[in-house]
Amino acid sequence: MCGIVGYIGNRNATDILIDGLTKLEYRGYDSAGVAVFSNSEIKVCKEKGRLLNLCEKLEKDPITGNLGIGHTRWATHGAPSEVNSHPHTSMDGKIAVVHNGIIENFEQLRSMLKEKGCYFKSETDTEVIPHLINMYYEGDIFNAVKKAVAQLEGSFALGVISKDEPDKLIATRKQSPLIVGLGKDENYIASDIPAILSETKDVYLLDDGELAVLTRDGVTLYDSEGNEVTKEIYKVTFSENAAQKEGYDHFMLKEIHEQPRAIADTLRGRLSLDLPVKFDDLDGELIKKFKKIYIVACGTAYHAGLIGKTAIERLAKVPVSVELASEFRYNNPLIDSETLVIAISQSGETADTLAGMRLAKECGAYVLSITNVVGSSVSRESDTTFYTYAGPEISVASTKAYTTQLASLYLFAMFLAENKGTLTDAELSDIKSELYNMPQAIEEALKLEDEVKELSKKIYKEQDIYYLGRGVDYAVAMEASLKLKEISYIHSETYAGGELKHGPIALIEDGTVVIAVSTDKSISAKMDSNIKEVVTRGAYTICFANEETKASHESSHVVVMPNRSSVLAPITSIVPLQLLAYYVAINKGYDIDKPRNLAKSVTVE
Ligand code: AGP
Repeated sequence: MCGIVGYIGNRNATDILIDGLTKLEYRGYDSAGVAVFSNSEIKVCKEKGRLLNLCEKLEKDPITGNLGIGHTRWATHGAPSEVNSHPHTSMDGKIAVVHNGIIENFEQLRSMLKEKGCYFKSETDTEVIPHLINMYYEGDIFNAVKKAVAQLEGSFALGVISKDEPDKLIATRKQSPLIVGLGKDENYIASDIPAILSETKDVYLLDDGELAVLTRDGVTLYDSEGNEVTKEIYKVTFSENAAQKEGYDHFMLKEIHEQPRAIADTLRGRLSLDLPVKFDDLDGELIKKFKKIYIVACGTAYHAGLIGKTAIERLAKVPVSVELASEFRYNNPLIDSETLVIAISQSGETADTLAGMRLAKECGAYVLSITNVVGSSVSRESDTTFYTYAGPEISVASTKAYTTQLASLYLFAMFLAENKGTLTDAELSDIKSELYNMPQAIEEALKLEDEVKELSKKIYKEQDIYYLGRGVDYAVAMEASLKLKEISYIHSETYAGGELKHGPIALIEDGTVVIAVSTDKSISAKMDSNIKEVVTRGAYTICFANEETKASHESSHVVVMPNRSSVLAPITSIVPLQLLAYYVAINKGYDIDKPRNLAKSVTVE
């Protein structure tokens, strides 16, 4: 959570920081601030609430200078407020710091620093950092930062500037992402690439423990001991446009519409009709030895995992257990060297998922990650990584990351099936060809936009909406329900069709809205019965079906989606359900891309 940007060069740092923070606001938006070296001192301006509030404050009282750091915050320690927002400074105001992450030993450090005479203005864990750096400062800010971070436990990405050395910007990280951008006579730091993409496409991806010293003329990298290190420049391949809305009203809508492209990119070079499936570096022989698979993930990625389980078990006949990452490591999972753990994370920085992976590795498992962010912590810490090529996902509500995760899991299931010989050539060929043509099927599903937009007008005033499904449709319904509650704040639950009469049916009364997903011909008659059960009790039902399953004539409305075989159906059936959630939230006038209380990437446990 939280976004960091920093600049050193010859232009006005404040403008560049604000521009970067605007692109990072999805990382956190309960307060924002900048610290800029201006007229021989560090001037700090911060404000509670959206970035706009900070901009208004800066307009009234501008700060100009060529060195600065900025931050947009999602609160963890200390309520959202001006005083708790970053940057934080040393008591004399000579050192300013922006921080992402959590300092776990901040209470001990705080007591120690107080004993030495420091006073604290905020309730944050971060404030110990500038005091600590100041304590170690003997005329060399780099050395002081190096000594200070050696005392920190927890996770951090830091940008640091000092009044006494206005020709330097120091950056370092541990378990929280940070990159260094390279310009001509100017350099940058940022927690995410989109923040500086309008300035440069050449970046260093800092590794855990590394420190960077940025000057106008160059960047020097060091390991945690202070030894100089070299690393390759990473060339960003996606365009600045990819990180912008491109004419759509919201990132979420843009990202829903990007799904055919995102799926095609994810499959490209990995799936062809007449060659074996390629799963990047994963060894086909190695993969056969695993007797058990755990999928570990959170939120939407967890929902993708539920569908991955069905695909892997049906196609490759290996038992799969899908675990919420936040629960996994506290449940004593049965892991050994014959266990494969698949960690799924769009951001690659989700703390719970990382913790689950670490436990799995300690127990001897082989860890495969599926992530969207190159160089993310999840990818660095796994044995092998499979990247989804969704491109940057800005909307907090995940859409294209989900469908590219599904495409990756289907590919994995086919790769495993091919290596284990669990499918006939004809079966393999059918399923490959269906996945190969998935981008076109998603285009078809997107054509339902006007229909679901109209439907959204009928249901957006509801307080509760229930979803039903069976098999993979149940998992799709869970994801659809999560999308709805995330952005429209409507209370929503999902039930497996067969479970209704074991309790939840008591909730149904005249006019209750029930959304059913029914794409599997083999169980659609059962789903029809479940729909009938709620219709009889007065529910207004919408059924998302296909040509083969649309017979649920009892429904108040049937949305007919493209036909897909049951195991691959979720990748298309989620699309109109994402659109439905989007338009319900539009009708309610809510902030689609930045829903309340949520942040894009949950980097704390
Ligand atoms: C999805 O819409 C959510 N915002 C959230 O559930 C998300 O999927 C979850 O936090 C996991 O994130 P990750 O994929 O980046 O690990």
